[in-house]
Amino acid sequence: MLHLDAVSKQFGGLPALSDVTFRVPQGQITALIGPNGAGKSTLINCITGVLTPTCGSISLANGTNSQEISTLPSHAISRLGVARTFQNLKLFERLSVLDNVLAGLNNEAGSSLIMALLRLPYLRHRERQLKLRALEALDRFGLADKADWPAGVMAYGDKKRLELARATVSQPQLILLDEPVAGLNATETLAVEQQLRRLRQEGQTLLLVEHDMELVMGLADQVVVLDSGCVIACGTPDEVQKNPRVLEAYLGSMEATA
Ligand SMILES: Nc1ncnc2c1ncn2[C@@H]1O[C@H](COP(=O)(O)OP(=O)(O)OP(=O)(O)O)[C@@H](O)[C@H]1O
Ligand SMILES: [Mg+2]
Repeated sequence: MLHLDAVSKQFGGLPALSDVTFRVPQGQITALIGPNGAGKSTLINCITGVLTPTCGSISLANGTNSQEISTLPSHAISRLGVARTFQNLKLFERLSVLDNVLAGLNNEAGSSLIMALLRLPYLRHRERQLKLRALEALDRFGLADKADWPAGVMAYGDKKRLELARATVSQPQLILLDEPVAGLNATETLAVEQQLRRLRQEGQTLLLVEHDMELVMGLADQVVVLDSGCVIACGTPDEVQKNPRVLEAYLGSMEATA
């Protein structure tokens, strides 16, 4: 589904990603883990066009077609069916919960200003359809009763789930999740875990960045480990947990923060 080949990103000459190469297989959950500052969010930003890699190739494969996306702007990548959530929530706080999810269907709304002003019957029908889909997505994440609330007044756990509803509502080809359970309690984490399992069952492809190792090791099909911008291991959860380089990277970072 997604091929990363020798992706590098530098900030002012300092490498944040160096020669990152791995694949995200279709219909699976690939976890991307690594200590703080390893480059995980930078990689998600490169895949979604928020940042342009300094060099390397990122391509999105669909059947037999493969398209280079590393030079495309973020709106074009989103149109190709790549959706994401953010490590630091990025919601429209003053808009309603429903409108925040509708923003995830922006690519499909496709109406010109003139059509919108004329409020053609077709457009009204289309709006109703989109609204129904947004409500379904909210229902799936247990937020349907809060559809009219301003997003800003919701509790933190609900905001995290609202981001998931927005990222998944368009049924994208690939969903990138940057720490979806960070700051959630055990019950909320379990609910998100079940949602992610359900998305995989439905055939969705997920790239999951997460520090919660219990969640990652119990859920992921494949784990990629980044340390200081380099891939130091890639394999099944079992393989990665036994890898001495991974243990060293994590122990090293624990010593540094102790
Ligand atoms: N816009 C930027 N400008 C300069 N340096 C940056 C920028 N974004 C990230 N960095 C640096 O790149 C490195 C990787 O950061 P990144 O946020 O990708 O790490 P991360 O793996 O997501 O960490 P965390 O687990 O804490 O979220 C860090 O050293 C960070 O300071
Ligand atoms: Mg990060």
